Amino acid sequence: MTADHTLHADELTLGYRERTVIHDLDLEVPAGRLTAIVGANACGKSTLLRSMSRLLTPSAGQVLLDGKRVHRMPAKELARTLGLLPQSPLAPEGITVSDLVGRGRNPHQGMLSRWSRDDDEAVAAALEATGSLELADRAVDELSGGQRQRVWIAMALAQQTDLLLLDEPTTFLDVAHQVEVLDLLVDLNRDRGTTIVMVLHDLNLAARYADHLVAIADGRVHSAGPPDEVLTAETVRAVFGLVCEVITDPTSGRPLMLPLGRHGVHTSDALSI
Ligand SMILES: Nc1ncnc2c1ncn2[C@@H]1O[C@H](COP(=O)(O)OP(=O)(O)OP(=O)(O)O)[C@@H](O)[C@H]1O
Ligand SMILES: [Mg+2]
Repeated sequence: MTADHTLHADELTLGYRERTVIHDLDLEVPAGRLTAIVGANACGKSTLLRSMSRLLTPSAGQVLLDGKRVHRMPAKELARTLGLLPQSPLAPEGITVSDLVGRGRNPHQGMLSRWSRDDDEAVAAALEATGSLELADRAVDELSGGQRQRVWIAMALAQQTDLLLLDEPTTFLDVAHQVEVLDLLVDLNRDRGTTIVMVLHDLNLAARYADHLVAIADGRVHSAGPPDEVLTAETVRAVFGLVCEVITDPTSGRPLMLPLGRHGVHTSDALSI
């Protein structure tokens, strides 16, 4: 098991030019656990993740990793401890899958050190874990959306960081691959103690896989805690403006959200099925 790192946002305010997106936000990431961040489109989830990985400088407040301000840490030093899979990463034109995944090893290489056997092993393990080994020699541009997403996840895995932030890692993936990626993140968390923070839109998968759920609304933390405390009909209504029923998943015991659209079934019908 790796050492647990502390990561928290402290009175964080973030924005773009005059528009403030995140207001005075406090967030503690539980060390060695899986955290899922949920919230409506444009509420600031990606903005928050970018700031936590030093890509966006706060207009006020700070992000602290092991008590140090991430915005004052050299990029490479931070990248050895904390990795980010952005929401819409861009691959260099024509790059092959193995070269892209190999870029995940950059933070581990010094000015003079060469590509090592450790690097080869990390890349091979990441390709294997994401089911992308057979794609290794393909051009990233020529992959399907789901294949490309798995390759990006492989790159993040190859970085072998103790903290991993993933912005919608399951987009473009079919249902089986979504579950596979989430299972893989659980493995990483259990086997290596990796602290995981992921933005997910599927509330039911978020509640099923995360130890800690954070719901963001209007640039603030609306609620945070264990899934059964956070995923309630009241939270879903307040955060998404959606009327729903929340029941207990008979298999996992976790909360399960059933949306009731304008044309959907009535509550009594839904419960009598
Ligand atoms: N580079 C940028 N320049 C200006 N405004 C931006 C920029 N990136 C994001 N925004 C704005 O900041 C707000 C929050 O965006 P952000 O991408 O953090 O939302 P999100 O919660 O990740 O949404 P989604 O679920 O759609 O990914 C939005 O209003 C968006 O238009
Ligand atoms: Mg986003």
